[in-house]
Amino acid sequence: MEPQRRILVTGARAKTGAPLARLLVARPGVEVLGGSRDPATLDLPGVVPTAFSWDEPTTWGSAIGDVDAVFVVRPDRPDAPELIAGLLGQAPEDAHVVLLSERAADYAALDRWGLRCEDAVRSGPRSWTILRPSWFMQVLTDPRFFRDAVTGDAELPFPDGGGRLAWIDARDIAAVAEVALLDSDHRGSVLELTGPEALTLEETAGLLSPLAGRPVTHRRQTVAEAVVGMDGFDLELTEMTYERVRAGAFAEVTGEVERVTGRPPRSLATFVEDVVAGLDGPPTLS
Ligand SMILES: NC(=O)c1ccc[n+]([C@@H]2O[C@H](COP(=O)([O-])OP(=O)(O)OC[C@H]3O[C@@H](n4cnc5c(N)ncnc54)[C@H](OP(=O)(O)O)[C@@H]3O)[C@@H](O)[C@H]2O)c1
Repeated sequence: MEPQRRILVTGARAKTGAPLARLLVARPGVEVLGGSRDPATLDLPGVVPTAFSWDEPTTWGSAIGDVDAVFVVRPDRPDAPELIAGLLGQAPEDAHVVLLSERAADYAALDRWGLRCEDAVRSGPRSWTILRPSWFMQVLTDPRFFRDAVTGDAELPFPDGGGRLAWIDARDIAAVAEVALLDSDHRGSVLELTGPEALTLEETAGLLSPLAGRPVTHRRQTVAEAVVGMDGFDLELTEMTYERVRAGAFAEVTGEVERVTGRPPRSLATFVEDVVAGLDGPPTLS
């Protein structure tokens, strides 16, 4: 019998954490702790609901104190570098850490915040793998982002500046994370993850048409229009992210998903088909 490996998945309810937890529970000899601020409501068969909040350091020790590996979803807040370092400080020194970062996180803006989050993982004694994904396809069906504009108004408002995006399906990020958590081959690696194609926003909108049942069109915005209602760090991070889209930071297609998992990444057309079919994985439109 294989030895039991215990893995904590933070953000177990989230776009990448949920499909990752599902992949891991299907593996023999793996115990999956699903981190959530509200573990009683976590509905992932086979996953051990585990109290975890970045706002409550008292939850950290019991969540991470006895794991073999951990998947850390970077909290997008100014104190993230300190929070990540604090959490990992309570993990066993031989635990492996997989960090969900973002594409080309080595920008200078925000006082190198993206890099400082990664450095919190790199600078400790533990082995690590850093995942740097492009924009998730799932934001297109997330009610907090574009779902209602796409399905209600048949439009995709986006300040692209003509830039392209190599959208990635979060299920493919999860598949890479599974390998990175279980195999030792990718220790010390930074994996730049993208989907199979770099799409303009016009092409992206067109591919979303089955979600609206009529043609979806791109509505070009300015960055200022896109960030109306935001403030503080959210505003700064979002403005900077849109500026990076316009500069082409998310346009390059890499072959990393296939190299790591042995499978090509899903296309946006496949993602949309799966959402329409209500398949397990991406959020449905209901
Ligand atoms: N969206 C993109 O296109 C994109 C692209 C590249 C990188 N990223 C990165 O991916 C990460 C976000 O991933 P996601 O979109 O999958 O997440 P998400 O869907 O926004 O969900 C975030 C999760 O974090 C948990 N959470 C929220 N506040 C928390 C707190 N105070 N303490 C502990 N957990 C908390 C929530 O779980 P509970 O409610 O169960 O606690 C939730 O499930 C960010 O670091 C982002 O920068 C995103």
